[in-house]
Amino acid sequence: MVTNILVNKAQIPTTLEGPFKPVTRRFDPSLRRGSDDLPMDHPRLKKNVTSNFPEQIALAISSPTSMWVSWVTGDAQIGLNVTPLDPKTVASEVWYGKKSGKYTNVQRGISTVYSQLYPFKGLLNYTSGIIHHVKLDGLEPGTKYFYKCGDSSFQALSKVHSFESSPKPSPYAYPHRIAVVGDLGLTSNTTTTIDHLTQNNPSMILMVGDLSYANQYRTTGGKGAPCFSCAFPDAPIRETYQPRWDGWGRFMEPLTSRVPMMVIEGNHEIEPQVAGITFQSYLKRFAVPSEECGSKSNLYYSFDAGGVHFIMLGAYVDYNATGAQYAWLRKDLARVDHAVTPWLVAAWHSPWYNSYASHYQEFECMRQEMEALLYQYNVDVVFSGHVHAYERMNRVFNYTLDPCGPVYITVGDGGNIEKVDVDHADDPGKCPSSSDNIPEFGGVCHLNFTSGPAKGKFCWDEQPEWSAFRESSFGHGIFEVQFQLLLSRL
Ligand SMILES: [Fe+2]
Repeated sequence: MVTNILVNKAQIPTTLEGPFKPVTRRFDPSLRRGSDDLPMDHPRLKKNVTSNFPEQIALAISSPTSMWVSWVTGDAQIGLNVTPLDPKTVASEVWYGKKSGKYTNVQRGISTVYSQLYPFKGLLNYTSGIIHHVKLDGLEPGTKYFYKCGDSSFQALSKVHSFESSPKPSPYAYPHRIAVVGDLGLTSNTTTTIDHLTQNNPSMILMVGDLSYANQYRTTGGKGAPCFSCAFPDAPIRETYQPRWDGWGRFMEPLTSRVPMMVIEGNHEIEPQVAGITFQSYLKRFAVPSEECGSKSNLYYSFDAGGVHFIMLGAYVDYNATGAQYAWLRKDLARVDHAVTPWLVAAWHSPWYNSYASHYQEFECMRQEMEALLYQYNVDVVFSGHVHAYERMNRVFNYTLDPCGPVYITVGDGGNIEKVDVDHADDPGKCPSSSDNIPEFGGVCHLNFTSGPAKGKFCWDEQPEWSAFRESSFGHGIFEVQFQLLLSRL
């Protein structure tokens, strides 16, 4: 419970001053709602190293004393017949140290490849370059390290990059700034978002799902579509163009090679292929600290960064109270030591609280299954994406204003090809029908409200009281935790 938070000079209001009167900032209808994808030959997407040299370099926090370094070597293939590369042909090494030019340590890791196979007439197959993951351990928390990655046996090392390890878990140390972004894609708007995010100099990125939008394409590439099913109604399977993932990795590298990015999967990462195989690109490309936190799946995990315990939940994997994710979550929450990590932040892709018409009540089943557990353990803030707009909720539990409920924030407005969402469920004529907004995973649990001004109805007639502020725009969020706030936290 928060009692007497200190307010800094900027006078950002605290939740103690809430609940706030709902505010809506509408989209200017004279503006375009989105932009096209960058082409594969755009300088930020094009491969600019030769075969065995590392590219698409990305960091992820493993623990305050360990960091994942991931990269790709070799050439991906696309065609009717593709032959997977042998991951053993290129070593996975990271040379690192606290001084530039003096790499006193070397760590070796693992490498893998994946294929995306569509054995349907007219569709092409893909097999990836070699994806390398190396865990650097024994790091000092909050310390700058320099590194090169690659294979030293044939002098194929990257240029020097640097990162700062996470602060030690403690109520007095926090990441400098955490950038929160979702539903990013690879458009001109994405470029603006990432450039702006980079200028804000974050020390960590929380990526709340829907990353590359490779599944807005046919396997033959070409031009991406803002609506796959509208543009390609006869597709035998929802196709993807996996080279977009490689373009995305290159586009992100200037940022992710120095700032750790913590990802969680969204619906655009499902990417079904032959034999019901899903999530291959997400699972193979990104290292996440699942083993470190006792999770048996890379689709959900947790980690500490300074005095914040982050919980990343999978909305597209079993979330029922009888399942493995729920059991892990309960254990993980029970293990949190509030004296060390007093702040609990959760993130998953699809929001539970959302007053836009898009995805309205889509993940109501997940909310009904898991909300009480998060409330019981006093989760402070929840970040989600999926809806392509911004919305911040008043503290809420079970659709009722509650000073002990989390603050839910939707930031699915990274800039993807599907365009910004502008309609609210409470706008005249915009309340979705019960057949709209069917989730790509899990059941449908749409409900009519049982109390309050919308009692008996599916949609409100005005912005709901639990919605504090909503704005249809593209962008990202900056999340800062300041230790002095803790002085008054009981
Ligand atoms: Fe989504």
